[in-house]
Amino acid sequence: MQYVEIKDLTFSYEEGKVILENIDLNVEKGEFICILGQSGCGKSTLLRLIAGLERPSSGTVCIDGEEVTEASLERGVVFQDYGLFPWMTAGKNILLALEQKYPKRPKKELKEIVYSKLKEVGLDRSVYNKYPRELSGGMQQRCAIAQALSIESPILLMDEPFGALDAVTRATLQDMVRNLLEGENRKTVFFVTHDVDEALLLGSRIIVLGQSPGRIIYTCEISKDNRPTRDTQFTNPAFLEMRNQLIGYINRDVAEKLK
Ligand SMILES: Nc1ncnc2c1ncn2[C@@H]1O[C@H](COP(=O)(O)OP(=O)(O)OP(=O)(O)O)[C@@H](O)[C@H]1O
Ligand SMILES: [Mg+2]
Repeated sequence: MQYVEIKDLTFSYEEGKVILENIDLNVEKGEFICILGQSGCGKSTLLRLIAGLERPSSGTVCIDGEEVTEASLERGVVFQDYGLFPWMTAGKNILLALEQKYPKRPKKELKEIVYSKLKEVGLDRSVYNKYPRELSGGMQQRCAIAQALSIESPILLMDEPFGALDAVTRATLQDMVRNLLEGENRKTVFFVTHDVDEALLLGSRIIVLGQSPGRIIYTCEISKDNRPTRDTQFTNPAFLEMRNQLIGYINRDVAEKLK
């Protein structure tokens, strides 16, 4: 049995328009799956299905042998639109998730966790009392990442989590997320990105979704002992070859769509 098993999954939001078709994906604990594909191919939808926020039209998503039927605190989600409640301060948004996860722990203790998670994503304590509308897109994105990390879930679902960040913050957070791959308690991550280089830097496996309907058109594995680093990703011929292959599959799919 695999940790995450997606079996012959098909999904439609409305009748007659299939969004995802024949998705089969088996993932072991601790894998870091990067999902690439052109806009609208169903990447966010696939994450929502794994999160339990949507139910498959047919087929199944199972985690640890149990079918996913609803959202769970076992799966932290960073939504593409950040997913913060606008009527609560950034700190309260993160605290809310923590209170759900640890209802018996004193609020003071949970507040300290919020501060430490804000620090981890490079945000000042003062952000705690700011409403999302008072924060830049990148700051909101970091709050959403802090929220997902705070509940210490074994599975993390991240939907273009670094899209709104400047290059330096992005690199810092990429390194932080890369660390999730290391060690005994490493997380199982599903990570949507449009950035092929980011996928190569972070993923243990990269899948490309094709469009209309969304399906897996290409998969590549990156072995643990042979992973690109910032220094080698643009110099090592093997990594450049992988990069070209990935770009080729994405572009071919776009070209077919435009025909
Ligand atoms: N709630 C919804 N109701 C109906 N259709 C939807 C809904 N959400 C998404 N769709 C449609 O499903 C398809 C896949 O959307 P999805 O958001 O999963 O794409 P995506 O790959 O994440 O795109 P992007 O890269 O732009 O974020 C699109 O055609 C979109 O219009
Ligand atoms: Mg999306």
